[in-house]
Amino acid sequence: MKTVLGIETTCDETAAAIVSVDSDGLPSIRANEVLSQIAEHAVYGGVVPEIAARAHVEVLDRLIARALERAGTRLADLDGIAVAAGPGLIGGVLVGLVTAKTLALVAQKPLLAVNHLEAHALTARLTDGLDFPYLLLLASGGHTQLVAVRGVGDYVRLGGTIDDAIGEAFDKAAKLLGLGYPGGPEVERMAEGGDPERFALPRPMLGRRQPDFSLSGLKTALRIEAERIAPLAERDVADLCAGFQAAVVDVVIDRARIALRGFADTAGRPTALVAAGGVAANGAIRRALAALAGEAGLAFVAPPLNLCGDNGAMIAWAGLERLRLGLVDDITAPARPRWPL
Ligand code: KG4
Ligand code: ZN
Repeated sequence: MKTVLGIETTCDETAAAIVSVDSDGLPSIRANEVLSQIAEHAVYGGVVPEIAARAHVEVLDRLIARALERAGTRLADLDGIAVAAGPGLIGGVLVGLVTAKTLALVAQKPLLAVNHLEAHALTARLTDGLDFPYLLLLASGGHTQLVAVRGVGDYVRLGGTIDDAIGEAFDKAAKLLGLGYPGGPEVERMAEGGDPERFALPRPMLGRRQPDFSLSGLKTALRIEAERIAPLAERDVADLCAGFQAAVVDVVIDRARIALRGFADTAGRPTALVAAGGVAANGAIRRALAALAGEAGLAFVAPPLNLCGDNGAMIAWAGLERLRLGLVDDITAPARPRWPL
């Protein structure tokens, strides 16, 4: 059995988890501690980097201790210390990385410096034991990409956003409609009772041959409609949310369909269509992607909600995947604010 501690501090979640793989290669999440800083940032309507870094410092040690305790293991029993070394807010990344390096030095364990995006990309193998290759829609507050995942460390980016990330678009939509932060869950909740057809919102990039995204025009169109009918009653907000979410769903499905066509040229036949990142928590997007996968005769895989958003288990798992291949780092591993897949 191999056991790794995973540490995540790249954005506004402080997380520590323990994941093991048994001799048959079967993984188990033995502890998965996540502390969200949402309350600290909510008053500002977005993540404030300096506040985030300080909050990570305050809680990370305790969170790691709690993860070890929950898993019933000790530092000395671990086979590696994995940490998200980027991409993300540099202050937070440094907190996690310095902590991981210190633990690795003191306990004499291998350090595994994991790419946060790679961890999202590999989560479907932890939860569903997927084989390579698969098509991944990675959509979070900071990232939106369609990627052919061919192996650990072997990713082909088929398309991405040329402006806002999908999660960011949800967050901005929520803010301009006076809803809370983070915006995705709020918009989804409001959209439930709304009429998606009352407002004619654009579907940017629909039909384009490259599976890229553009979301800033949709956000602007939403703002114009909201201003036109202001002041907004609850009914109006619900209809605007429903219209916005329906537009995003249409764009996502069109872009994913194009990416599926392009996939064969780079990676052959995919084993599945996978959604990851915080936006994969959206029920409407999940349902539409599942239907698209069904049409293409593919399985659809999306991690359970607690593993869609940022967490330590995905970092520990990516660490285990790298450890298996001997991809170990040392004390000089840099913190990377930018780190493309
Ligand atoms: O992966 P994640 O937890 O953090 C990073 O950005 O790395 O993703 C957070 C993002 C936020 O923008 C949030 O609004 C969005 O995911 N999100 C959603 C939903 N839940 C979270 N977007 C749409 N619908 C949701 N239900
Ligand atoms: Zn993330």
